Amino acid sequence: MEIQAHKNMITNFKKSDEYRARIHDLIPGGAHTYSKGDDQFPILSPAAITHGDGCFVFDPDGNKYIECLSGLASVSLGHAYKPVVDRVVQELYKGNNFSRPATIEMEVAERFLNLVGIHDMIKFSKNGSVVTTAAVKIARAYTGRKLIARPIDHPFYSYDDWFIGSTDVKSGIPSDIQALTVTYTSDNMDSLRELFDKYPNQIACVISEPEKMNVLPHNYLKDAIDLAHKNGTLWIMDEMITGYKTAYPGSLKKYGVEPDMATWGKGIANGFSFCCLTGKKEVMELGGIRKKGAEKLFLVSTTHGGETCSIGAALATMDEFEKHNVLAHNQAMGQLFIDKTKALFAEHKLENNLRNLQFNWHASIGYFDNEGNNNFGLRTLFHQELIKRGILFQGIFCPNYSHKEEHVNAIVEAMSDSLPIMKKALDQGYEKFLVGEPIKPVFRKII
Ligand SMILES: Cc1ncc(COP(=O)(O)O)c(C=O)c1O
Repeated sequence: MEIQAHKNMITNFKKSDEYRARIHDLIPGGAHTYSKGDDQFPILSPAAITHGDGCFVFDPDGNKYIECLSGLASVSLGHAYKPVVDRVVQELYKGNNFSRPATIEMEVAERFLNLVGIHDMIKFSKNGSVVTTAAVKIARAYTGRKLIARPIDHPFYSYDDWFIGSTDVKSGIPSDIQALTVTYTSDNMDSLRELFDKYPNQIACVISEPEKMNVLPHNYLKDAIDLAHKNGTLWIMDEMITGYKTAYPGSLKKYGVEPDMATWGKGIANGFSFCCLTGKKEVMELGGIRKKGAEKLFLVSTTHGGETCSIGAALATMDEFEKHNVLAHNQAMGQLFIDKTKALFAEHKLENNLRNLQFNWHASIGYFDNEGNNNFGLRTLFHQELIKRGILFQGIFCPNYSHKEEHVNAIVEAMSDSLPIMKKALDQGYEKFLVGEPIKPVFRKII
C-alpha cells in the first residue's frame, strides 16, 4: 500500500466513495454515532478508517492523516498504543467474560475510586450514555423527584430519551418525557437560581459538564453545587470529555468540588469501551442488593459491563498517565496549537472569522462570516482543505500522547496553506470552493 506523505495533496477517495455509497443500505446513519456520520464531513474526505497508528489514521484508499479529534476524544495515548494493546491481549488470553464477576473488576474499582478521591462506589458500563442515564435514575429514586436540569448550551449527555427529548430531535419520544427535562444557561448562577425558583422541590438533579463553553466564573462550580444542595437537588458532574484532560482524573479534582456523582468515559481506557459512574455511598448504595427490605433500584445491568479486556485497557491507561505525566504533555500540545493558530489567524487578519476557544485539552475553532454569523459552509471548506493536506480536522484539536510538536507544526502548516482559499471564500462565498454540501448540525429536526 502506498502511503501519501501528508504534504502531498490527497485527491483519491475512490474506495471511500464506494464505502459511502453502500454503507447507508446496511447501517442506519452509516455509523454508530451520528458524530462520525457523512453529514459531519465534506464529501472530499475519508468515509471510513482502515486502521490507526499513534496520531495517524489511514483510509481505504491508503491515504494517511494526522487525526485531530483522537477518536472523538476517546484516545488519550494514541492508536494501537503498545502498552495498552499488550495488556488487552494479556487479559484476552485469560478469558473475556465469565458467569461471575472477574477479579480484575475489584482491582479497577479500588484504583479508580482512589484516583477520584471523593467517591465511594463505582459502576461500569460500555457507553457514556448508559452511565449518565444511570446517574439520573439514581437521582430520581434518591430524591423522589421527576425533573432533570441540564445546560441548554451543552451539546450532549446521552442518547436516551431524557436527554434527546430536550433537543430538536424528538421523534419517538413521548411529550410527557420531554417535559421532564428542564434547562438553564451554563455557568450562569442567575439562570440556575431562576430554574430552582420556577420548579421548587421538583428538580432531582443537575447534570452538567464541569467546563465547556467558557472559562468558569470564580468559584462557580462550588457555588452551583451548594445551590443545588440547598434545594435538595443532586449534582452530577459529567467528566466524559474533561476526564484525564483538564486534570487527572478530572475537573472535580482541579476545582476541589464534590459532586454527588460523576460520569466517566472517552479517554479513560484509550478508546476501549470502559465507562463508569462514581458516587457517594449514600446514593450509589441504592443500586445495591444489601439493604434487606428496601425497594430495589435496577441500576446498570449488562452482560458486557465487566469485560476484562476493556478493564485491562483502563488499568494500562492509568499506568501510562502515572508513569509519563501524559496530562502535562497533552495540555502542552494543545497550548502549542492554540498559540500557533491564534498567531496565524491574526497574521492573516482572520481572527474574527476563525476564532480559537481557549481550552488546551480540547482546542476548538469557531467559523464566522464577515457579518459575524456562525457559518457551516466556511467550516466545511476549511476541513476540506485540511483533509486534502492530510489533516483530519473536525473543528477540534484534542491532543493525545502520540501527538508531538512536529505533528502540531504539520497541522498549523496545513492551516496556513489553506488560509488563502478561506480568504477568497469570505469575499466570494464558500460555494465557489466547496465540493458538495456543507456539514449539518447533528441535532436537527429535519434530515
Ligand atoms: C459530555 C458527554 N457525555 C456523555 C456522552 C455519551 O457518551 P457515549 O457516546 O459513550 O454514549 C458524550 C459523548 O459524546 C459526551 O460528550
